[in-house]
Amino acid sequence: MNDYRLPNLKEAARRQRDPEHIARDLFTMPEEYRTLGEGKRYYILTHGCQANERDSETMAGMLEGMGYQKASSYAESDLILVNTCAVRQNAEEKVYGELGAFLEYKRKKPEMLIGMCGCMAQEERSVQDVLKKYPQVDLIFGTHNLHRLPALLAETMKTGKKVVEIYSREGEVVEDLPSHRNSRHKAWVNIMYGCDKFCTYCIVPYTRGKERSRRIGDILAELKELKAQNYREICLLGQNVNAYGLDLGHAHGFAQLLQAASEVGFERIRFMTPHPHNFDQECIDVLAAHENLMPYIHLPVQSGSDRILKKMNRSYSREEYLDLFDRIREKIPQASFSTDIIVGFPNETDEDFADTLSLYDHCQFDSAFTFIYSPRGGTPAARMEDLTPREVKEERLQILNEKVGYYAHERNAAFLNREVIVLCDGSSKKKKEIFAGYTPENKLVNFKGENIHAGDLVKVRITETHSYSLNGEAVEIISPFPYNISE
Ligand code: SAH
Ligand code: SF4
Ligand code: F3S
Repeated sequence: MNDYRLPNLKEAARRQRDPEHIARDLFTMPEEYRTLGEGKRYYILTHGCQANERDSETMAGMLEGMGYQKASSYAESDLILVNTCAVRQNAEEKVYGELGAFLEYKRKKPEMLIGMCGCMAQEERSVQDVLKKYPQVDLIFGTHNLHRLPALLAETMKTGKKVVEIYSREGEVVEDLPSHRNSRHKAWVNIMYGCDKFCTYCIVPYTRGKERSRRIGDILAELKELKAQNYREICLLGQNVNAYGLDLGHAHGFAQLLQAASEVGFERIRFMTPHPHNFDQECIDVLAAHENLMPYIHLPVQSGSDRILKKMNRSYSREEYLDLFDRIREKIPQASFSTDIIVGFPNETDEDFADTLSLYDHCQFDSAFTFIYSPRGGTPAARMEDLTPREVKEERLQILNEKVGYYAHERNAAFLNREVIVLCDGSSKKKKEIFAGYTPENKLVNFKGENIHAGDLVKVRITETHSYSLNGEAVEIISPFPYNISE
């Protein structure tokens, strides 16, 4: 018998009423762990959304606290962690492909450790599959016990046995975890964890647990620290950011947080992802009032059909979405918009799909992430009858994507010959004189220039527009990244 602690989706679906508590001393790094990774290298493969990106930074921080160093490829690492996403079947298949490939490496280097974490680790079925088919995986842990990584790793190193520990109920909001951020000028900041929306197609409320907001004081302290480190752009993260604070009893918590964040002094503040249902007028007003709150709104609609929105449990109607959209566009006319759309939800009809297309024509989004519905075991939609053939769904996706491309091209064309401010992310790997970065509206710009560094704010003249990027030439560096001056 093993003593694995396995996930349970039914338990994960339950929501407790207890007031949340914050754990400030849950993470420990005893002296004996600090040297376990010395002389060893780690590699983290990250799938999925920004929640996972941020978690990977936290794991990197913990591993470096154990003496590990980052490897430049997984072939030369001593520890591989696969941070997984369960949102669609194809995300899961990628992970299975990778685990299969690691088998090869582990044959050559048996002392190499392989760990799996993230949202797939919260699913019963995936964990059972991995245990059965990928015996080379040494460590499995979930999204609620990230802070346990050093202890779990130490255990598998000491015993040579597989360690599996997953909590199906979220615990505390764990503060004061170390982290190694991937960028020196842009930072992700979690403001809340989990999701209570339970859209019928979505696995996230099961894999990430209930909505838990961080205390505003903790978020602001993190922001001030990032400001002191010269970060220029921050992105406030949550599955449902404008529900921020509701669990703490603050009615307009997100608008208040945006207001407070804007006063910290960053050049750019973004947020991901708002839900149309909780997007209140206070939030629109704050966004419109501050120049450092970026005019880019990702507002997932999922479908333009009332019938499907209801079956998805999205808690807004087509009309409510359009009303919100129009109010934001009116108040912030320079804003760009993107959305998420699922086609082929169970029994979506041609008429439902036509409603999605007409909504798209109204909003004329700058871009969109479009998906074919993927049934997720354990969710209500996976139990719904679905008679729509796969070919029809694929055809709908293609029709929708043509529309997405058309408006993306149109909206970008308006930038031709304009001067925009780009926050430079670095130069192209192939051509050192070509740089890339984003405008406030989140437009990707590839531009020519000289003596430009990651983190510089650069005025760029747009010379060419495409559907998914703009090309341009640097006019001047508006503000160099402070790091280049001081070091
Ligand atoms: N919390 C965010 C996004 C979560 S997942 C929100 O609600 O907007 C990101 C996107 O993946 C979703 O917006 C949805 O469009 C898509 N998605 C989620 N579950 C899916 C499924 N089962 N099949 C296809 N797409 C899905
Ligand atoms: Fe999933 Fe809906 Fe929550 Fe977004 S709001 S994470 S789509 S359940
Ligand atoms: Fe995927 Fe989990 Fe994010 S399922 S989209 S990694 S919250």
